[in-house]
Amino acid sequence: MKEPRDWVQGQRSYLYPAVSTYYEEPLTLVRGEGMYLYDEAQQPYLDFFAGILTVNVGHGNPEVASRMCDQIRTLGHTSTLYVTGPQVKLAEKLAGLAPGRVRRSFFTNSGTEANETAVLSAQMHTGRQEIVALRHCYSGRSMLAMSVTAQNAWRVGGTHIAGIKHAHSPYCYRCAFGRSYPGCDLECARDVEELIQTTTSGAIAAFIAEPILGVGGFITPPPEYFQEVERIIREYGGLFIADEVQTGFARTGDRWFGIEHWGVEPDLITCAKGMANGAPIGATLATDEVAESWQGKTISTFGGNPVSSAASLATIEHIEEQNLLHNARKMGDRLRDGLEQLKEKYRAVGDVRGMGLMQGVEVVDEDGAPDSDCVDRIFEKTRQQGLLIGRGGLYNNVLRITPPLIAGADHIDEGLELLERAISAAGG
Ligand SMILES: Cc1ncc(COP(=O)(O)O)c(C=O)c1O
Repeated sequence: MKEPRDWVQGQRSYLYPAVSTYYEEPLTLVRGEGMYLYDEAQQPYLDFFAGILTVNVGHGNPEVASRMCDQIRTLGHTSTLYVTGPQVKLAEKLAGLAPGRVRRSFFTNSGTEANETAVLSAQMHTGRQEIVALRHCYSGRSMLAMSVTAQNAWRVGGTHIAGIKHAHSPYCYRCAFGRSYPGCDLECARDVEELIQTTTSGAIAAFIAEPILGVGGFITPPPEYFQEVERIIREYGGLFIADEVQTGFARTGDRWFGIEHWGVEPDLITCAKGMANGAPIGATLATDEVAESWQGKTISTFGGNPVSSAASLATIEHIEEQNLLHNARKMGDRLRDGLEQLKEKYRAVGDVRGMGLMQGVEVVDEDGAPDSDCVDRIFEKTRQQGLLIGRGGLYNNVLRITPPLIAGADHIDEGLELLERAISAAGG
């Protein structure tokens, strides 16, 4: 199995079959540089998915790579039983970036663990158990995270943790109440109160939500949504957990964290993906009083690992030095304009939504119903054109378009052109 052409067969033979890949015939990648990935034939692909919103400062970013190499040569691992500079410096940095009074970090290896830690922190702080989450959300792959997740395709195994209630999602394009924003009086947000009154004891531990529902198909709540839900949650004694695994670290443009666009100060924030440009990391950020409520022992062997922490610091500094918060907004606007034009031109483009460099396209048939077959076709065509995008949504019919934050105008225009060709060739 020395050659890339053998790897697909190797994957089929030796990995869990559940490790699914995109495309009819899996794509094997061997190298990445900046905005591009390359297959074994050195064919370039413009990357508009960034390893699931993770490679924020570009593939093989020289600064991130050299800081990681320096760190692994100097001190690669100690566990959290000892104090190390990269972990502490990263925690200090995050305390400066996080909104409101959130300033304590607990480091892990993934978004799943970050969410586990956040939910448990809220339960310990409030002395309560019940959690409110949103339908269509994705929280991770542990039993708790799958129980929070509200898409049956990702709730596998059949056993789920009780006490997690799911409110209607602020999915304006397919409003559960049949209403239209802004004339809807935010019925989905107000319904959270009835959900608490009718399906919980009335004493909740927390509300957990992604500012933009990522795997759920980039459902983007109206501007007033989270403040209204926060008011209700706090009335019933719950904490506010913002799952920023996809929306964090400048992805939505102009702000470090997505929830800042909605003017809410969470008690807990969870991060992973884009915070270290691909090095494995997760972080739960909390206020002093929430962090101090943790009862009993806990440890994460790899949490706060010096190499991942160094990668994260280098990624954050790169975002600062290159002003990628601004770039994500500016390029996001350009991308959004282009996608809106595609919506005017192609019937299959039913809705365009998102923020910054996190834009979704909901693909529909002539009756406006979700059309995942058309997305299958678009996927094969984008691959042939040399463009990588993602997909999601409960009905698997939403294109997820999320280039690295270093994208320039030429990249955005090239990606839009390739996408248009693919939609057209797919009969959109
Ligand atoms: C919003 C959100 N939260 C949590 C997770 C879980 O993160 P991980 O896959 O790193 O465990 C994901 C992963 O896609 C996610 O999108």
